[in-house]
Amino acid sequence: MNIKSLLNNLLKCKSTDELIETTKKSELKKTLNIFDLIIIGIGAVVGTGIFTIIGTAIVGTPDSAGAGPAIILSMILAAVACVFTALCYSEIAAMIPVAGSAYTYTYATMGEFMAWMVGWILMLEYAIGNITVASAWTGYLVQLLRGFKQYLPDFIVHFPLWLRNDYISMLRMCKVYGWDIHDKVPHIFGVIPVSVNLPSIFIVLALTLLLIKGVKESTRVAGIMVGLNLFMIISFILVGAFYVKPENWTPFMTNGFEGVFMGAFLIFFAYIGFDAISTTAEETENPQRDLPIAILGTLVICTILYICVALVLTGIVPIAQIDTGAPIAHAMSFIKKDWFAGFISVGALAALTSVLLIYQLGTTRILYAMSRDRFLPKGWRLIHKKFKTPYVMTWFAGISVIVFSLFMDLRISAELCNFGTFTSFIIICIAVLILRKTDPDRKRPFKVPFSPLFPILGIIVCGGLMVYSLKALNESSIYFPLWLIAGVLIYVFYGYKQKRLEDAQRSNRNNN
Ligand code: ALA
Repeated sequence: MNIKSLLNNLLKCKSTDELIETTKKSELKKTLNIFDLIIIGIGAVVGTGIFTIIGTAIVGTPDSAGAGPAIILSMILAAVACVFTALCYSEIAAMIPVAGSAYTYTYATMGEFMAWMVGWILMLEYAIGNITVASAWTGYLVQLLRGFKQYLPDFIVHFPLWLRNDYISMLRMCKVYGWDIHDKVPHIFGVIPVSVNLPSIFIVLALTLLLIKGVKESTRVAGIMVGLNLFMIISFILVGAFYVKPENWTPFMTNGFEGVFMGAFLIFFAYIGFDAISTTAEETENPQRDLPIAILGTLVICTILYICVALVLTGIVPIAQIDTGAPIAHAMSFIKKDWFAGFISVGALAALTSVLLIYQLGTTRILYAMSRDRFLPKGWRLIHKKFKTPYVMTWFAGISVIVFSLFMDLRISAELCNFGTFTSFIIICIAVLILRKTDPDRKRPFKVPFSPLFPILGIIVCGGLMVYSLKALNESSIYFPLWLIAGVLIYVFYGYKQKRLEDAQRSNRNNN
């Protein structure tokens, strides 16, 4: 093959008409209304970020400076980065209501190779993001069980560490507390360590089964979870507000702007998820009208809630005493409301469960779109005869999260997820600019105001935060390029060939 045809293949875009045509043949059921979409949005956004990572973003780590009470500035900065992108998502999602989110939009604008890479990067956001959430889920489960220590057997309350932590976390813990790893983790034949986060494996499996059963059933469960977690968050704000001591808000910027920027990078995780709404475009009854409203509505609701939570948390607990493991529940214990701390754990578990569910949904829908474009094996896109869901893909996604979670801990997976998401956000902003030039006359039920300024600001803010954090986050700034290289290699040795092979088979069939 010559270079010219290779380049043609790599840069070949799928036309918008072709994309929309594909959805007409879609076997996915169109059942989601605007209410479902907002549930999916809030369900995907409110989770580990506000219940766990907020603590680290305020206090900081040995690698990164904390924002202190100025976390609200970090939140506003992260929200600004998201608003520009949310507007861009809204424009494209309403214009091309096809499953696959940023992957599909890239295929329409930047060609096959970039589309593959974006699909691969989205796996960082969705699948690797889910590892973060699953591991925080276990943390809150343990908290909750402790609240019932009078009624539960000791084995459950003090669930062994090696059955609720991945090996990397155990190693880190042993280092911090000066323990010998051989005392804390059993080793098969004295050499192979066994340390797994069992509760997180259990919840991922349970949600995989639910997703196979149906998307409507899944959003119904997510709806209950979202109701519960919103109730808890609002109660935290209302109860906590009476215990705020304004003197805790000074000094406001404990680590100056450095803390605010690092805080924005970390707390960005709390906002990720509104884009998951666009992954279900093909299952939405009225995508042109409902997608933009749901995307922007989710972002506004969550930003308001987050700022209130941050004000109450930093107003109640002095920065040095914030518990980075379960900051919100601990804040309630701090004001001697232990029973309420238990309720918060229930809310947190509900929130994390809905994030897991929706991220798992997003992962499968992106992989489904990639497989439908013939980059992935045919068998993966099989639809369940009775439930009408892509069940092979759903199993694949669930099992991948479980396998990866054996090797990754919460911090690294959260940082990687942020890198992946910033990258996909930047690409969405670029895609809007490209489509405005290449397809100016297509009907746009929603348009980004002040284009090209807003998409360009989106690129600058997301890119700026990403580059800024690269200098502090040593480990993940190495893993991120490695992930990209792995994506290129899989494309070169598999995706590219699979696509050509299936395309050739199709044209042979059509010719006969
Ligand atoms: N925004 C989601 C969370 O905070 C990913 O868990």
